[in-house]
Amino acid sequence: MRQQSLVPPRLIAHRGLSARAPENTLAAVQAAHEAGCRWVELDVQLLGDGTPVIWHDRDVARCSDGRGRLADLDIRQAGRLDAGSWFDVTFAGEPMATLDRMLALIDERELGLNLELKINRGRDPLALVERTLPTLLEALPAERLIVSSFDVTALAHARRQAPAERLPLGALFERVPRDWAARCDAIDAYSVHVDWRRLRASRARDIVQAGHALLCYTANDPTAFAPRWEWGVHGVISDDPTRFAAPRTDPHPS
Ligand code: G3P
Ligand code: MG
Repeated sequence: MRQQSLVPPRLIAHRGLSARAPENTLAAVQAAHEAGCRWVELDVQLLGDGTPVIWHDRDVARCSDGRGRLADLDIRQAGRLDAGSWFDVTFAGEPMATLDRMLALIDERELGLNLELKINRGRDPLALVERTLPTLLEALPAERLIVSSFDVTALAHARRQAPAERLPLGALFERVPRDWAARCDAIDAYSVHVDWRRLRASRARDIVQAGHALLCYTANDPTAFAPRWEWGVHGVISDDPTRFAAPRTDPHPS
């Protein structure tokens, strides 16, 4: 159910402003802020030594100059990676961001954070929650935080760390399952996050009617996306939210 204190964000920069800067880095969050974004979505995982870092993939090859699995690195090894050059030479030397360093930036810029607990194959959802949630709850108020995951074990464990008024949780779905309402109730979910291409109007209306915030990922074409605003969708997670103007009519007048 929707917490009173958190207004559903309309525009969220996916992995930071990932259209213009290397995803999930401090540079991508700075770019989002400088482009006027108020919310960012980021992925969090653990290094092999238990340090939470902002990273999407199971491996480091796609988004750094290194190779191998994230789970095989400690903070010293991860700190030597260049997580910027793959995107553009102007980002050379950009580090992999630790959660601590990222939260300091988010707080400094007064941004909202949708932190996705990313459970790649073979990783432990309980360990991720336990290494991440205390720091997160210390750093950000409920008004600027949504923790989401595709992983039901991670979401259930996150809920055990804090009640709904302190920790807004988002249930992530590729395709909304038939038992979406029960799954949301089980974790006292604030929001439902769905693949925008797989959402249907009737399901969108049911989710909104049930009192959840409804967010769609990852949409980059505002024209194709436009009908979803009429269905009651509250927000879009986009690689470049600056492409999205406010909808002509607001189905959620305050
Ligand atoms: O949180 C929405 C979106 O980020 C989920 O997919 O793979 O981009 O993390 P992915
Ligand atoms: Mg994500």
